[in-house]
Amino acid sequence: MNIVLGITGGIAAYKAPDLVRRLRERDADVQIVMTASAEEFVTETALQAVSGRPIRSNLWDKEAERAMSHIELARWADLVLIAPATAEVMARLVSGAAPDLLSTICLATEAPIAIAPAMNHVMWNNQATQANRATLEERGIRILGPGVGSQACGETGAGRMLEPDAIAAAAFDIAGSQDERLLDGKKVVITAGPTREPIDPVRYITNRSSGKMGYAMARAAAAQGAEVVLVSGPVNLEEPAGVEVTHVGTAHEMYEATHTAIENADIFIAAAAVADYRPADIKEQKIKKTEESMRIDLVRCPDILASVAALEAGPYTVGFAAETEKVDDYAKGKLRKKKLDMIIANRVGDDCGFDRDDNTVSVFWSDGEERFPQAQKALLARDLIALVAHRYYAVRGADSKDNVIAIH
Ligand code: C5P
Repeated sequence: MNIVLGITGGIAAYKAPDLVRRLRERDADVQIVMTASAEEFVTETALQAVSGRPIRSNLWDKEAERAMSHIELARWADLVLIAPATAEVMARLVSGAAPDLLSTICLATEAPIAIAPAMNHVMWNNQATQANRATLEERGIRILGPGVGSQACGETGAGRMLEPDAIAAAAFDIAGSQDERLLDGKKVVITAGPTREPIDPVRYITNRSSGKMGYAMARAAAAQGAEVVLVSGPVNLEEPAGVEVTHVGTAHEMYEATHTAIENADIFIAAAAVADYRPADIKEQKIKKTEESMRIDLVRCPDILASVAALEAGPYTVGFAAETEKVDDYAKGKLRKKKLDMIIANRVGDDCGFDRDDNTVSVFWSDGEERFPQAQKALLARDLIALVAHRYYAVRGADSKDNVIAIH
């Protein structure tokens, strides 16, 4: 495995030689790319000795570029790992600016990128850093840590770089998962986000779904080689790369788009928060406030998930259940009632579930269950897709993949 290890200027850079050793113990070839400020914390001599390769740092180093240009380096990498990653390099990755060799490689590579942030806890919690973290995650960049604990500045909090061994293990996990491609040749249809049910030309009924979980599932399925169609309600998210996105508004439109996409699908995952009811008739003109009170008659929306589960020779069907109480009971009830293959249940409330970057879920199928502790939605989605793939091959058999069992 070829790893470009980017080292940026934080005190945790003193752990970089140890990280290089851990990566090399796992048989990785490590090409180090340092930023100018990293050189303040760790010496080139030490890093060259442990990596066994000349260190790269300057985009304009003619001799080094002749040996392997920055574009060749970007192609050579199976993984670009930045550890430690400062708030500054995170901001640079978000902006797409490429003033130095490391950020240029990040722009030019098609390999996965993982970063292990390390900084003072106030810097980590700063709104700008958190917004950058969310954007990077949205774009599929893996964020490893940071850990919580005492910091070099003498304070305590979140911002410590993960230990080198944990980073090395995660790096191999990420790069390795690129080869497995659990869903190569499979078609996966996913619904995500809320729906909007119009009342009149300016008003509608909707809910608090952000679409983050469904988008993360789409990204994770695509990363496993699936052809993914994402049927999305109105959300404020970047479209996942390599995924076909169909935008819809109402539950009815989502139903139509899903049934159009579902032909030949192997797996259907309903992550959308579809309206259960819609106004019985949509007023053509804006409703005026003439009365003291008013009623809006509502009628049921089609249940997209149940309709797909009822298809003859339909796909392996996975639902989500967002509940505020009795999560397991209600979820298991839905699994049976809607005749699903699997249900992924989570509790929603002010402090969990909707419009957050993390989630805690329990998954149920007819004769099994698995609990997933709190994790960032992107990482959780990766594990959930691996479980869905495993159960899919277990139930639908035929071309079952041996390597799936190894993961779950
Ligand atoms: O019954 P409930 O709405 O709680 O079920 C949630 C699951 O059903 C989710 O997977 C959701 O995407 C799906 N659903 C649907 N169409 C509806 C309502 C819910 O596909 N009209």
